Amino acid sequence: MSVKILSITLLLLSICVCCHSEGTHEHPGRIPPCCPAVTKGNMTADVVGQTYHKLAARYHCVKAIIFDTKDGQQLCADPDAQWVKDLTAKMRKV
Ligand SMILES: *[C@@H]1O[C@H](CO)[C@@H](O)[C@H](O)[C@H]1NC(C)=O
Repeated sequence: MSVKILSITLLLLSICVCCHSEGTHEHPGRIPPCCPAVTKGNMTADVVGQTYHKLAARYHCVKAIIFDTKDGQQLCADPDAQWVKDLTAKMRKV
């Protein structure tokens, strides 16, 4: 009896682990799922690459544009800032 319960538990556990790891594949690890705040200053000089990501506001996260920076990090920028508009106009959304 208890062996049966144990094997069912293990089965459910392995399904959970499986689904969880599949779920994380949908979001490339590099891209932060959200920005708690955005940079207000003009960070044009630090931005590299030809692509950007757009994030919608949800939970404790704000609406943001994500840029790659010189040091391999991601930068959360204010979509309404003029320097952000200037940059995204020249870049490709991904
Ligand atoms: C931001 O800085 C870049 C160069 O560092 C400059 O070309 C651009 O005009 C600036 N944009 C704004 C909105 O100040």
